[in-house]
Amino acid sequence: MKAMVNIIGAGLAGLSAAVTLAKAGIGCRLFSRQSSERAQSVMAEGGINAALDTMGEGDTTAEHFSDTMKGGVYLADPNAVRGLTEGAPDIVREFVRLGVPFQMKGETLVLRNFGGQKKKRTAYAKSSTGKMLMSALIDECRKYEARGLVMRFPHHDFLSLVTEGGAVTGCAIGDTFTGDRLVFSGPVILSAGGPAGLFSGHTTGTTQNTGDAAATAFFHGVRFANLEFIQYHPTTVGISGKRMLISEAARGEGGRLFIERNGRPWYFMEEKYPELKNLMPRDVVSREIYAVCRDPECGGQAYLDMTHLSDDTWRGKLSDLREECIHFLGIDPAAEHLPVEPGIHYFMGGIWVDERHRTNIKNLLAAGECACQYHGANRLGGNSLLGAVYGGKTAAETLSREILSAPGYMEGFEHAPAGEPTVLSGNERDPAFERRLTDILMEGLGIVRSEEGMRLCIERIEALLKEDGMSDRMKARASLGLAMAKSAIMRRESRGSHFRRDCPERDDENYKKTSTAECIDGRVITGYLDIPPLRETV
Ligand code: FUM
Repeated sequence: MKAMVNIIGAGLAGLSAAVTLAKAGIGCRLFSRQSSERAQSVMAEGGINAALDTMGEGDTTAEHFSDTMKGGVYLADPNAVRGLTEGAPDIVREFVRLGVPFQMKGETLVLRNFGGQKKKRTAYAKSSTGKMLMSALIDECRKYEARGLVMRFPHHDFLSLVTEGGAVTGCAIGDTFTGDRLVFSGPVILSAGGPAGLFSGHTTGTTQNTGDAAATAFFHGVRFANLEFIQYHPTTVGISGKRMLISEAARGEGGRLFIERNGRPWYFMEEKYPELKNLMPRDVVSREIYAVCRDPECGGQAYLDMTHLSDDTWRGKLSDLREECIHFLGIDPAAEHLPVEPGIHYFMGGIWVDERHRTNIKNLLAAGECACQYHGANRLGGNSLLGAVYGGKTAAETLSREILSAPGYMEGFEHAPAGEPTVLSGNERDPAFERRLTDILMEGLGIVRSEEGMRLCIERIEALLKEDGMSDRMKARASLGLAMAKSAIMRRESRGSHFRRDCPERDDENYKKTSTAECIDGRVITGYLDIPPLRETV
């Protein structure tokens, strides 16, 4: 058996890892439930951040670093964020080289405003940036496929890690068409996306994400971190089975939030936050919408006003957003106000990784939304595409360094993997159970949280875990949900997207720390780790 790296997930992080490995001459298999063309990364809209300073505002990577740290309320590893922000300009330049149709003015890349950042820093392809970056990387990947360095396995599910002596030796994969179970040896990079499927119907993510890859990894003892931080995007609209994202680009291009108060429109963000106005970080905007919608003097529904945007803006920058609103909502935002509400959009927490994207298990790395890195307590818009590309690349570089510098590293995998895969029982889905778990989580982990709400959430999940007939798969999902609620209740402060009515202040002295959660023998154990200090040298 030829030893290759196994990558689980073929979205932006997985593709970025595959291309990076292939460029170093290292082969990999790319497993995914769906083809890359249908990965969640394709749905990313607004743009990708890089301090390229093409707009003459004097932007710097140091400012990108400090905005990212501030937006995440200082919970991210500063060394990792420095790598991300300093690496960003080259990443965007590489996408330009690959022919991504970014908005240009002559030879100059046009950057747009995005939330939580004072300078224009977000490169974009209308509001379909994810799709365009994915197309470019899929094409790039094909080049290496043709050379036998990348093998793609769409319609293959991650079933389990194979481990021996505490180290990963391979992974078990299920062919979703034939039902066959396959076992591959080699190190593993997990890049399967966040646990959106645990909140099905309430997220802007793809309805095809079940959250099972994250739940399976958690059940197998992979350490997770910062699970209490769930991002509610301020502007979403409910459609069948999910929430539709109204990109922050709408506000970046001048869209204004308002609510009726005493019969008149009240532009609450502009009044309360005169500097960044509608472009405050997402946690702040979502909480403000939550509050004004419950204010008895207000009309109960917030709106996004884009009716004043110019024809040029609609045509050149937001035409796809407008088409989607007309198609899915029957509303033309150039002529009417859009009713909006916050909806779950991103998970800042995920698999704990160090600066080099190594997990707590040897030979297992993680990148993209399934990993916890870069975003702390709240992610800035435009940093997720960047984090996925940079994270996949970093994980692959870490592995290639190990592979190239430790002779015999890959040869260690050139047999069937030692150790038995412990595949979870109950691979079939159970929609009724999934809905019950989602309802419990939504009650406890909303935009505004309380001790009683989170306590009840924990008790109800613990009761669920004791019910008869729970398969391993159900237990894995419930355990990950329990870890989210336990991480939330133990953080007795408000920070970023974690806001508690009973502890509304930030408490740096006790909680400027990374929360951790592990599932050990079926028990969820939580704790804290210190955040590494910023090193003087890169
Ligand atoms: O609003 C948006 O377009 C989302 C972008 C992001 O989450 O990075």
